[in-house]
Amino acid sequence: MRDKIIEIILDQDGGFISGEELSKYIGISRAAIWKHIKILKEEGYNIESVNKKGYRLIEIPKDLLTYKNINHKLNAKIIGNKIIHFETIGSTNDYAKEIASNEDEGTIIISEEQTNGRGRLGRQWYSKSYDGIWMSVILKPNIMPYEAPFITLIAGASIAKALKNLGVETLIKWPNDVILNDKKISGILTELSAEIERVNYIVLGIGINVKTMEFSQEISDIATSLYKENYKISRVDIVKNILEEFEKLYFKYVNENSKEETLDICRKYSAIIGKEIYLLKNKSKELVKCLDINKDGNLIVEKKNKTIQEIVSGEVSIRGVEGYV
Ligand code: BTN
Repeated sequence: MRDKIIEIILDQDGGFISGEELSKYIGISRAAIWKHIKILKEEGYNIESVNKKGYRLIEIPKDLLTYKNINHKLNAKIIGNKIIHFETIGSTNDYAKEIASNEDEGTIIISEEQTNGRGRLGRQWYSKSYDGIWMSVILKPNIMPYEAPFITLIAGASIAKALKNLGVETLIKWPNDVILNDKKISGILTELSAEIERVNYIVLGIGINVKTMEFSQEISDIATSLYKENYKISRVDIVKNILEEFEKLYFKYVNENSKEETLDICRKYSAIIGKEIYLLKNKSKELVKCLDINKDGNLIVEKKNKTIQEIVSGEVSIRGVEGYV
């Protein structure tokens, strides 16, 4: 409800909209509108209310992840053509999956807050209001279902590349984490709906810790944010850069069947190639040396007995010898 109110107020481009008009558009009483406006003000929206004129936004929050802010001069053909923005939602991935069948490829779901943000392996993903980027991209590539994990690599590569464009050197912990100063700043959750030989849709979920200064005790040793590492960058700029970089690599993959650029970035920015790592699977933990990422995007490792093994993403978790990376 509040999302709708703020969207309508934003649409006025700084002009007034009366309480009566708002209550007609939304279908609730003027008193109810007033209550929502009060909460929006508490959330940081600088809304002025003037008798007989109504409400207007004095200053448009520049770093709000709205369609207007993100789509402005966005250099992309399909990714970000439609952006559905929420103040709060359970999980952008869950919502994306609900609507994916009826939406075009490239539609983005983005929320200022998630109350039920999900990470891989059923973990929780902390997604406080305005602290980060919590978004999902709906994709409908014409690929085989077993090829879907490559989309995660494209996402990781585009996040690292986008942050590099903005002056931040990150590393990719194959297949789905982005690392800054040895801690995780971003995670990717790729979810697939498919038949045996055909992808219905993929929901690519991206979480980036931007402004978070304090993490819960369980993750404070392994998680960080851009602000915490002294990179004060606008969330809107990060999203725009990611969408643009993502589209370039995604088109290369789906239109030209070319994986090379993504693989080059994943290798160049790899946090684990050349290092000893632990492979975690069920309760087992195996020390291996990480050699390369092969042409399919799988990890090539050397075991203690010198045999070479190819690891497919999703099969294992990875830990560094001295900690998270
Ligand atoms: C991980 O590292 O475990 C993956 C984290 C993915 C988090 C993002 S935030 C946006 C999207 N919605 C979710 O519920 N999860 C993903």
